[in-house]
Amino acid sequence: KILILDFGSQVTQLIARRVREAHVFCEVHPCDVSDDWVRAYAQDGTLKGVILSGSHASVYEETTDRAPQAVFELGVPVLGICYGMQTMAQQLGGKVEGGHTREFGYAEVRAHGHTALLKDIADFTTPEGHGMLKVWMSHGDKVTELPPGFKLMASTPSCPIAGMADEARHYYAVQFHPEVTHTVQGQALLNRFVLDICQARPDWIMGDYIAEAVAKIREQVGDEEVILGLSGGVDSSVAAALIHRAIGDQLTCVFVDHGLLRLNEGDMVMEMFAGKLHAKVIRVDASDLFLGKLAGVSEPEAKRKIIGGLFVDVFKAEAAKLKAGGAGHKGATFLAQGTIYPDVIESGGAKSKKAVTIKSHHNVGGLPEQLGLKLLEPLRELFKDEVRELGVALGLPHAMVYRHPFPGPGLGVRILGEVKKEYADLLRRADAIFIEELHNFTDAATGKTWYDLTSQAFTVFLPVKSVGVMGDGRTYDYVVALRAVQTSDFMTADWAELPYALLKKVSGRIINEVRGINRVTYDVSSKPPATIEWE
Ligand code: XMP
Repeated sequence: KILILDFGSQVTQLIARRVREAHVFCEVHPCDVSDDWVRAYAQDGTLKGVILSGSHASVYEETTDRAPQAVFELGVPVLGICYGMQTMAQQLGGKVEGGHTREFGYAEVRAHGHTALLKDIADFTTPEGHGMLKVWMSHGDKVTELPPGFKLMASTPSCPIAGMADEARHYYAVQFHPEVTHTVQGQALLNRFVLDICQARPDWIMGDYIAEAVAKIREQVGDEEVILGLSGGVDSSVAAALIHRAIGDQLTCVFVDHGLLRLNEGDMVMEMFAGKLHAKVIRVDASDLFLGKLAGVSEPEAKRKIIGGLFVDVFKAEAAKLKAGGAGHKGATFLAQGTIYPDVIESGGAKSKKAVTIKSHHNVGGLPEQLGLKLLEPLRELFKDEVRELGVALGLPHAMVYRHPFPGPGLGVRILGEVKKEYADLLRRADAIFIEELHNFTDAATGKTWYDLTSQAFTVFLPVKSVGVMGDGRTYDYVVALRAVQTSDFMTADWAELPYALLKKVSGRIINEVRGINRVTYDVSSKPPATIEWE
């Protein structure tokens, strides 16, 4: 195993993720663990190496964190990253100074000599024959004097000591961040460290993660009871499946159906969790309540507020019942959430020692406190693609785990203006046809379906009527817009160049099969300036 000591950088979990990608087991612990803790941790001989993370702090300030000195007495390789390099230099007798210029962003680093860490790893070679790395830097302070026994491993014009190594003791350190994807050779460098230098065994798989997570959940929960709000989305589904694997009937899922879900979505969620997994799921059919409160409201933000507010009210009422206990139940004491690592970073709670934060776009901020429940968040350290992999390993269907994202307010923001049941029913059927055909059409060049080639695709209901002709008759019916985008982060997005044959098939089917819609348009707007959703 590899021990990652966390000095509070936002990207510490990315280091863990890269180590997992090398199929090596690792754990992140706060940097202020004691020397005794470190020695005990290494005692069984399975510890193969230590990685010291970055931080926001300055190493030469008195109050800031140091690595436990015992790390340097274990005889295992140590890799310092950014602040981790600075504290390593400081603790082993080198010198660190505050930089006059902060270096932030892309940099080209020259790799010196042949260290076991960087040997034959380079992005390009200069005409003079120097191996160069394209990296991501983010630091103010820098090492200005190597500790005894160390040699220079890398440098940039503004950071002469950008990497150092003591190969006799297997200590390595880099000022740049190998864990971020902007550092092109980052994964290669971390693989080199954990696999070659530490000689950790690459035998870790997602299945092992399940066993570890199950053990942790059991320990945390004991014989208490847990409530989880199931939405049908990837994160809450995977969290539910994982917690159910750990504690079975001690978990109760509450699934609030607001009547604005996609076609058959509610039934599919029930079939999977109640039917296949035999989990306890309470389905609350609140569609009349939601549609009633939405009547006459057409302003998008007002609609969002109503949906979000009602969702919390309905969930709270159910949770309060479960908390109170009853026939054979002690009452719930935990609220589980499918918070994943990017949510933790977004809400500014990345430092592991800090208090937990809640997914803000789920509109449930403060809910655990209000309900007097403890939080259980078993996916807090995972990235989206890891959550998906975990879902598959837990036996959830591929279609559920690799689904496009769906906004909390659901079809409520895909029916422009006032939301009516009639509109929602038409939209659900049109949308199901679009999604079905995206699955049916495969791109010859990549062999992938158009569903997999798009990041998000859906249908929008426009409450305007246009004239059409069908058979011998004139029609006067509603319009829908198809929306399909490609994006990596949802902050910017391009409209997808779907094949005409696919668009033709979808429009033909919608107009023929969904009575009440006689016109289909395709949205060719990118984000920005348009947004992905229409409201
Ligand atoms: P926009 O429309 O802002 O969407 O380009 C970006 C991403 O966010 C999703 N989205 C929401 N998700 N509640 C959510 O949970 C919302 O109110 C909401 N609005 C937009 C949208 O589907 C897209 O993936």
